[in-house]
Amino acid sequence: MRGLVGFWLLVTSTLGVAQTLQVIPQPQSVVLEGEALPVAGNLYVVATPALQGEADLLRTWWNTTSKGAKGSVVSAELRVVQGLPAEEYALKVSPGKIVVVGGSAAGVFYGIQTLIQAESGQKKLPGMTVRDQPAFAYRGMHLDVCRHFFDVAFVKRYLDLMAEHKMNRFHWHLTEDQGWRIEIKRYPRLTEVGAWRNASQVGPYGDQRFDSARYGGFYTQDEVRDIVAYAAARHITVIPEIELPGHARAALAAYPELSCRGAELPVATGWGVFDDVYCAGDDRVFTFLEGVLDEVMALFPGEYIHIGGDECPKTRWHDCARCQARIKAEGLADEHALQSYFIRRIEAYLNARGRQIIGWDEILEGGLAPNATVMSWRGEAGGIAAAKAGHDAIMTPGQPCYWDHYQAKEPGEPHAIGGFNPVDAVYMYNPVPGELSDQDAKHILGAQANLWTEYILTPEHAEYMILPRQFALAEVLWTGPRTREQLPEFRIRATHRARVLKARGFNVAPHFLLPESKSTRRREAK
Ligand code: ACM
Ligand code: ZN
Repeated sequence: MRGLVGFWLLVTSTLGVAQTLQVIPQPQSVVLEGEALPVAGNLYVVATPALQGEADLLRTWWNTTSKGAKGSVVSAELRVVQGLPAEEYALKVSPGKIVVVGGSAAGVFYGIQTLIQAESGQKKLPGMTVRDQPAFAYRGMHLDVCRHFFDVAFVKRYLDLMAEHKMNRFHWHLTEDQGWRIEIKRYPRLTEVGAWRNASQVGPYGDQRFDSARYGGFYTQDEVRDIVAYAAARHITVIPEIELPGHARAALAAYPELSCRGAELPVATGWGVFDDVYCAGDDRVFTFLEGVLDEVMALFPGEYIHIGGDECPKTRWHDCARCQARIKAEGLADEHALQSYFIRRIEAYLNARGRQIIGWDEILEGGLAPNATVMSWRGEAGGIAAAKAGHDAIMTPGQPCYWDHYQAKEPGEPHAIGGFNPVDAVYMYNPVPGELSDQDAKHILGAQANLWTEYILTPEHAEYMILPRQFALAEVLWTGPRTREQLPEFRIRATHRARVLKARGFNVAPHFLLPESKSTRRREAK
């Protein structure tokens, strides 16, 4: 602890002006001071066994960046300090020495991410002291792998981007009408049948055109474990989404007896919302879902399981004798209360096994399950209602968090579902609505961007839709809500960051960024 006190005194007593680095998200406090440290020579890293992953990250980066350039020996000390918030870190770069301390391995990891970006292609690190911590605990990205499938390699690339921007929750949308994407050993037909469709809707929705290509894919349980471990090494928790009671056509294609009518229906080929959903009156449905969730819990160690809950039409339940009998037996008011019964029953199953549920904001209808966290997507009203009722909420309103929407109005943009969410709107987003009291505002855990993939077929297109918008959201969630005055300076950093990512082969949308020459001039003038 003594070492820590000395370190903090050094940090806080330094006379200097806070300055910005070419880093996204911008750290809370940066003081540039003293000489730069060339990235050259051998790096000796001192770290406890719990920080071996972080030590490897730093060493690999150093060796790659220095490319064996000669220089004096540099020492790096990585340390976890008890009593600091887990994600907080401080770092200091001085002649011959790098020190990164964090409240946990996650904090140290974020400190190293800051170092890596601060090098900024200059082969040297500025002499500096940085103190940093996140504004929000939940800094999320979602990926729909059902409308279109994305392979393990791309999911890892997606996780890399998240980690580099200090995002920490990956919402993996694994089941849908158009495809079931996770192997469940007890129910093999979910992937034998449910992971494949015989055609896909192509082009704008209104055209109602379809190809005739068989399409699909899924992740084996080994692949899921691999991705969960890859994420964990980057301090990202994976939140799997198993959709219920709606968006279930792929599961119902595999096991038709789980729907109200038992009709044989194919995996859906077009987009939208479908009337056939899990029957809420049939206990076989709950046995099935519990069996699925048992395997899901074994694969995903995180606290949260997302159970969907959105867009469940009540048509079939209205006409189903079993569903009506359930309404009567449970004394429920109507089909909305039946949906609430469904969610509560699943919640009780998961709570009894130490897990918590997240659901889309429709889970408020008919009464919220006792411990549920609400993901507010139809604007912010659901998140506000949840917070006022003492429930946690995650903000992901269509504006500006749906990144399947356009980011520019220029002609030539790839076809998108509609909407308009430019980078500056993301940058100006404040996840905490002004109308919440300070007490209620504590229930807003953070925010998330969603990437639905009806119109996004390839990794290149997915990258285009999230970059550079991810820079903006990462900065809001880590550094805190922004002002319009900060936008021009952010644009300079975003342009720099985009250049770095483009050099690594990422596809970054150009609209928000400065023209290359201008940004270079501004950077050199600093
Ligand atoms: C949703 O966009 N249906 C959550
Ligand atoms: Zn039914």
